[in-house]
Formats: sequence, C-alpha cells, structure tokens
Amino acid sequence: MLFYAVLIYATRSPDVTTNRGAVMQQKPTDLSMDAYWMPFTANRDFKKSPRLIASAQGHHYFANDGRKLYDGFSGLWTSGVGHCHPKIVAAVQHQVAEMDFCMGFQLGHNSAFELANQLTQLAPEGLDHCFFTNSGSESVDTALKIALGYHRVRGDAERVRLIGRQRGYHGVNFGGISVGGIGANRKMFGANLINAVDHLSHTHNLQYAAFSHGQPTWGAHLAEELEALVSLHDASTIAAVIVEPVAGSTGILPPPVGYLERLREICTRHGILLIFDEVITGFGRIGAPFAAQRFGVRPDIITAAKGLTNGVVPMGAVLVSDDIQRAFMQGPEQAVELFHGYTYSGHPLAAAAALATLEVYREEDSFAQALALETLFAEELHRFDHHPMIIDVRNFGLMGALELAPREGAPGARGLEVHKRCFWEENLVLRNSLDIIQFSPFLNSRPTDIRSMFAAVRRVIDALT
Ligand SMILES: Cc1ncc(COP(=O)(O)O)c(C=O)c1O
Repeated sequence: MLFYAVLIYATRSPDVTTNRGAVMQQKPTDLSMDAYWMPFTANRDFKKSPRLIASAQGHHYFANDGRKLYDGFSGLWTSGVGHCHPKIVAAVQHQVAEMDFCMGFQLGHNSAFELANQLTQLAPEGLDHCFFTNSGSESVDTALKIALGYHRVRGDAERVRLIGRQRGYHGVNFGGISVGGIGANRKMFGANLINAVDHLSHTHNLQYAAFSHGQPTWGAHLAEELEALVSLHDASTIAAVIVEPVAGSTGILPPPVGYLERLREICTRHGILLIFDEVITGFGRIGAPFAAQRFGVRPDIITAAKGLTNGVVPMGAVLVSDDIQRAFMQGPEQAVELFHGYTYSGHPLAAAAALATLEVYREEDSFAQALALETLFAEELHRFDHHPMIIDVRNFGLMGALELAPREGAPGARGLEVHKRCFWEENLVLRNSLDIIQFSPFLNSRPTDIRSMFAAVRRVIDALT
C-alpha cells in the first residue's frame, strides 16, 4: 500500500497545461449547493459556476470534471511538501486505527509531548514551551490570552492593551479580528470587538516602496509609531504587540529593513511582549523554520498552524518563552495554571501528522529547498514589473504578489477574474485578495513548473481589459 502511494506520488509529475474552453459545468446535477455556507467566498457567484475539486496529489488538484490543475498556492499556504505526501498519509492512517482520540485535560499521550519537544527544538532559542490549538485563529487568541495572563500573574494587571497593525490578518476569532487590521473582517462585528486595542500603520507604500525586491529599504521609521502609542497610553497599560513578520493575507507586505528589529527594541525597553504571528511564515515558507530566525529577531511568543501538519489535519501551536511559561507555574500544585484549552488540543491524529511532517522537512531538507528556489521565484515574479496592468510586485521567500490596477468602480473584479480564468483556462489554482494575485509555491516546486505557472498568469493578465 505504502509502495503504491509512493509510486503515485512520484509518477504524477507536475506540469501546467492550458485548457481554453474548459467545460464549465462540474457539479453533479442532483447536488444542491444551497446548504453549505462557504467561508471567505462569494457564495452566490461561486454557486453559479462552482469550482469543485475531487482529489489532490503531489503538486496537483484533480477537478470534478477530470482536469488536472497545478496548485500555485500549495493548499492555502498549508501544503509545502505537496498534497497527500505518502509519509504523512501513512502516519495518520496508522494513528487513527491505534488511538482516535485521547482526552487532553488531565490526561496526555506520548506524541503530543514528543511534538512539543521537537517544535521547541526547531523554534528560536528560548521559546521552550508549546501550547496546542486547532487553527491559526485559535493560536492567535491563545497567544493574546497568554500575554494578558502573563502580566496579571506577575501583578501587572493594568497591562491589558493589545497593539496590532493595519492590514494585519490574525484569523477570525474575536481577539484576532480586534488586533487585525482588515476593515471588511471587522466592520460587521465592530461594536463588540475588544476595546483596549490600537493599531500601528501598515508598511506598504506605493510611492516609496513599489516593486521592491524582498524587504523594502523604506519604512523602518514606521516602527516608531509604537513609541507614540507608549507615550499616549503609557507602557504600563500595554500588554503586547502582534505582527505578521511578513504580512500575508493582505498581499505580501515584507517588513522594511530594520523594522522588526526596531519593534523588538521598543518592546523590550517597555516590558511589552512581542508576538510574531507565523501562521504563514513558519515551516520553511521563507526559507527558515520561522521568520524569527530568518530576520534574526526573537519574539516572546510565536503563533503557528498551516505548515505544522502540511495541512493534512487541522492543528495550531503557540510557542512561548520560558520566562512567560514559568510565570504561570505558581500557586498550589494541584491547581490548573491556565484556564484555557481546546477539546482537540494535541489531538492524536494532528500530532501524528505533525510529527511525520517534521520528519519529511528534515529528510527532504525542505527549508533549504525553499531557500534555493527564492531567486528563481523572485525573478519570474518581477518580470511583471513593467506590465501596464500591474501597479506593484512584492516578494519575500516563497511568498509573492502581483497587484493589478483595479477596474474603475469595481475593486476586486480583475483579481477574481484572474483567479477564475486561471482555473478554467490554464488549469491553475491561485488566490486573489481583491486585485492582488498571491503566490505560495510548494517548498519542493520544480523550477519548470514555476516558469510555466508565470507564463500561464501572463497569458491571463495580458487578456484582461
Ligand atoms: C497570519 C495568520 N494568522 C492567523 C490565520 C488564521 O488561521 P486559520 O484560518 O487556521 O484560523 C491566518 C490564516 O491565513 C494567517 O495568515
């Protein structure tokens, strides 16, 4: 069985083929689409012409209509070593037959402890403890709660303010949308967001930093806004700052040179915790285990998910410094130290998937593979620098974005058109966030596939009106 799986994985080599005039009707005639309320999807538009996937293998999806599509987004930033990696599949299959579930409150199992050990080894030095969640959103809310709790257990209960950043994405739970900086994700729930929150400015600037290769040289001064917030609120009221080291969901905003370093200095000076949300940037996406190592800046807390299990089973993790965790370890020994946890924290299937994923990363040297692909990826992306339809090109590691000029009066229309035309005409899956086309290639992509993917994107963008 395993041999068979390996064979399929190895023989379905990725390629990008065109498919102009594809059959648009994919769904079985008796399948009603009404009941399923899809996440972050234009439901009514999607259901008119559904894009349905039947299976996934290696670098490809297979659509309901039989077409083989190249996955230019490696899942949803999740599946860096390819879909249905045989080693991860086998680990999960084995685990489900051995122990499907184990209560995680006042009970434990070996894999969760082993995984925590391995993750803290992989993490920057000093992040020695790990709390498990089931998603990036839960990791973020867990991290924010740990930050608030930390100050409180140390007798600093006034430190309750949380600082996020405009254009930050930290998932969809209440903590995450409160510190997040995406208007559309906040406005419906605005009245009940967390109150004591402030935001730094985002670091994207078309005038000074458009078409930057990697980190822009402009923008480090924006970190000084944290000093301004400290003056306004007083450091004694601020618990933590949370940022994505490279903002992902709002269209790849790499940190200006020196920016993260400056944030670190200011946080340290004022006793404010620094949280890096590494749900995307963790596990090789930018050529290192975590962005913290790539940028040489150590936060106090890291949130992770996605690449932790290669997307195979939902799981998230919060990596916490020894200082923080130790602060909670007081009071009577029989008492629970942190009143927080999920039924599925450290779930056996997720832990098995994660352990197998970490093994694959080591065996295939995935993070070094990703690093080696960066130059080619950046070159291909920046071939669009002078395209009349493109107003910015941004990249860092294996994260990239092409920003299209919006169609007058219809922001987002061109971006969605590119996504759909790639799917129907080019057998290519990409993601758009409004008019920003995003790329998240596999850590083990073949260079020829990266080139073919960009050739396909060029055909689609050239045809836009
Ligand atoms: C930086 C960041 N944080 C949090 C999340 C939320 O993760 P999830 O969708 O698993 O809840 C995401 C998802 O893309 C993310 O990019």
